[in-house]
Amino acid sequence: MINFKELANKYKTPLYVYDLDYMATQYKELKEAFKGRKSIMAYAVKSNSNLSVVKHFSDLGSGADCVSIGEVRRAFLAGVPAYKIIFSGVGKSDDEIREAIEKDILYINVESESELGRVELIAKELNTICRISIRVNPNIDPKTHPYISTGLHGNKFGVDLDSAKRMYIKANNSDHLDPVGIHFHIGSQLTELQPIYESAEIVADLVRSLQTIKIELKFFDIGGGLGIKYDDEVTIKPYDYAQAILGTLKGLDLTVICEPGRFLTANAGYFVSKVLYEKKNDSKRFVIIDGAMNDLLRPSLYNAYHKIEAITDSNTTESKADIVGPVCESGDFFAKDYLLPDLEHNDLVVVHSSGAYGFGMGSNYNTRGRSAEVAISGGEDRLIRKREEFEDLVSLELEYLKK
Ligand SMILES: Cc1ncc(COP(=O)(O)O)c(C=O)c1O
Repeated sequence: MINFKELANKYKTPLYVYDLDYMATQYKELKEAFKGRKSIMAYAVKSNSNLSVVKHFSDLGSGADCVSIGEVRRAFLAGVPAYKIIFSGVGKSDDEIREAIEKDILYINVESESELGRVELIAKELNTICRISIRVNPNIDPKTHPYISTGLHGNKFGVDLDSAKRMYIKANNSDHLDPVGIHFHIGSQLTELQPIYESAEIVADLVRSLQTIKIELKFFDIGGGLGIKYDDEVTIKPYDYAQAILGTLKGLDLTVICEPGRFLTANAGYFVSKVLYEKKNDSKRFVIIDGAMNDLLRPSLYNAYHKIEAITDSNTTESKADIVGPVCESGDFFAKDYLLPDLEHNDLVVVHSSGAYGFGMGSNYNTRGRSAEVAISGGEDRLIRKREEFEDLVSLELEYLKK
C-alpha cells in the first residue's frame, strides 16, 4: 500500500508517483510470454520518458522504442545499448536521421517512400549502411479510441502493402540501406486480440513473399498497444497475445520485437493532488484540486476515464461532483459526475492509472510548473524529477526581454 499522505507531505502536490516494482512485474510477464522465441522488449519511451523509468527497464534488459531524437538521447543517457534502440515516427527530420545513423542504433522504422529516400541519401553522405525496418499499415480496425488508432489507411502511420514491397526491393538494391525488419502497430489500448492477430498474419505473409525474392528479414516488430484496465475493461493476457503472434510466424526465423508502453507503466502511476476548494453552482458540485490538465491531459484530450480515490477523514455520504483543476478552460477536468464524499481543504485526490501518457503529455499552460515525479521501490521512495519552478519556466525568455 502506498502512503500517499506521507508522500504528499514530503514532496508537496501535485505529484506523480510511480511503482517501479509493478513496472518490473509487468515487464517480466510480457517477456516471459514470448519465451521459446528470440525477443526484445523495446520499451516505448513516449509512455513515460523519465530517465529513471527508462533506466529501470533498461536494467531489466529492455531496449527502447523512440519517436524523436530526444527520446533516442534519453535512451542512451539511461544506459540502453544502441543495438536495442529503435527509432520510429512519421516525421523524422534530416538531423534526426543523421544522428540516429551515427549512433548506430538497431534500426530506423521507415514510414514512407520519401523518408526511405532521405535515409538512403543521408547514409550515403555518411558513407555507411543504415539498417531499416518498414512500418506496414495493414488497414485493420483496432477497435480502440480514434485518436489512438493507427492501423487504418485513413491514419497517417506506415505504408500499404504494395508500397512496402516496393520499398523493400529498393532498400535491398541500395548500397546504403540494409532492410532487416518489418513493423506494424495498429493502435493503443487494444482490448481485442483478433485485429492484432489479423495484422500479424498480413505482415507475416509479406515476410514470406519477400523471402521468395531473396529478401530475408531478421526482426518482426509487433509494436505496442496492449490495453490495461482503467475501469472494468476485459484485457488481453500477455500469454494469449504472444501465442496469437507466434502462431503467425510458423517457419519464420525472426526475432520478435515488442514495443510496450502503457501495459508497463499506466497502472504503476498515480497522480496525487490536493483539494483546494469545494463549490456549488446551483446544484452542480465541483471539487477543485491543485492538479490540472497541464499535468494530466488524458481526460481533457480523450475524455479518458481514470479511477479517482479520495483520501479524507470525511465520512459523509457520496454525491456526484466534477473534479476540476485551476486552469482557465472548461475542458480542465479529471472526472465528471464522480461519486465522492464531501472533501475538505488539503484532502487528497489520487488519480489512478496515470503512469502512461501522463507527465509526458504535460505542458506549462497557464505558466504552471510541471509536477515533481517520485519513484517507489521496495518500500523506499525517491525523487526522480524536481518540481518545475517559475524560474525554470522563464529561463529561455529572460535574456530576450527588452529592458
Ligand atoms: C510505434 C509505436 N510503438 C509503441 C507504442 C506504444 O503503445 P502502447 O503504449 O499502447 O503500448 C506506440 C504508441 O503510440 C507507437 O506508436
